[in-house]
Amino acid sequence: MPVWFMRQAGRALPEYRLAKGSLSILDAVKDPSLVAELTVQPVRRYGVDAAILFSDIVVPLAAVGLDIRIVPSKGPVLDEPFASEKDLDRLRPLVPGEDLPCLADSVGETIRALSGVPLIGFAGAPFTLACYLVEGGASRDFSATRALLHRAPHVFAELLDRLAGIVLEYLSVQVEAGVHAVQLFDSWVGVLSPYDYAKAVLPATRRVFDDLAARYPSVPRVMFGVGTGELLRLLTSTGASVVGVDWRVPLDEARRRIGPHYAIQGNLDPAACLAPWPVVAEEARRILYQAGSAPGHVFNLGHGVLPGTDPGILAELVSLVHSEGRAGLAGPEQA
Ligand code: CP3
Repeated sequence: MPVWFMRQAGRALPEYRLAKGSLSILDAVKDPSLVAELTVQPVRRYGVDAAILFSDIVVPLAAVGLDIRIVPSKGPVLDEPFASEKDLDRLRPLVPGEDLPCLADSVGETIRALSGVPLIGFAGAPFTLACYLVEGGASRDFSATRALLHRAPHVFAELLDRLAGIVLEYLSVQVEAGVHAVQLFDSWVGVLSPYDYAKAVLPATRRVFDDLAARYPSVPRVMFGVGTGELLRLLTSTGASVVGVDWRVPLDEARRRIGPHYAIQGNLDPAACLAPWPVVAEEARRILYQAGSAPGHVFNLGHGVLPGTDPGILAELVSLVHSEGRAGLAGPEQA
């Protein structure tokens, strides 16, 4: 069974802290050999079956000229948040090649360094990017963004539509350069009701995946968000081929909601990985059991690796999934 971890690169790894030093992420992504090194580190350390490109969801926003920065332990910050229709003028289309001159080289160099291990490209979904633009930073409940959705639905729709255009071009550059799958992180979409999601967010998200599928039909498309239990069925309408599930919904129940036609990715609680190994092993076995015997489970955490995680635990977790996961049992020795 395949396994990788969201946010597998980063502060849990001492070699990451060493290689990146004090460089901001937004500068680090401009150096293709550093991107390749940071992307490969978790593959070497954990033996995961896929790498995820080292970047950040706000990289394409900075690339179209927004003054957005990443503040350590806070995340992305925009000093002048979007509040009204006139702010839409600050969001111009992304010009592939010109706005991210190093991206294709970074993907190419990373693929060479991975020697055969698949590379996942990614972007933030329009709603989650809008959250950072409207809140100006992290938030508990994203109430300013939800208020904009209700207060000015046409501005909200236009904002998401422009973001969808940027995301589509950003992902297309990654696919053209060779990534083997793409994931949309709609991390904060769980704050929405299914009704608001279907009406105000789904159309822009679906546009990204439908246009991508039309351009590159064979590239798998993963959709992921946190707290999406009530949205799982709707997430299958985004045009995704794989639906990510956080740790709140047991995978057997998630399978009922998602149906048989999609692969499922998840869903070990990242906080469980801070416990001693026997506890992590038991949790991992529960997830393998709940995933059942149907094909199409990609083992992952229910959200990103937490910075304090012991890298040794994640390496053991990968071994367990490989030896006890369904595909492991059906491997060459049994075939
Ligand atoms: O292996 C990987 O996944 C690394 C690539 C990656 C990063 N960010 C690098 C990063 C990915 C896939 C992301 C996605 C991302 N960025 C998301 C979606 C995934 C999720 O967790 O829901 C979101 C919401 C962001 C925005 C963001 N950027 C946050 C919330 C933070 C953390 C702030 C903090 O310091 O706690 C960042 C910064 C960031 N992006 C770091 C890394 C490795 C840590 C800061 C650093 O090392 O400089």
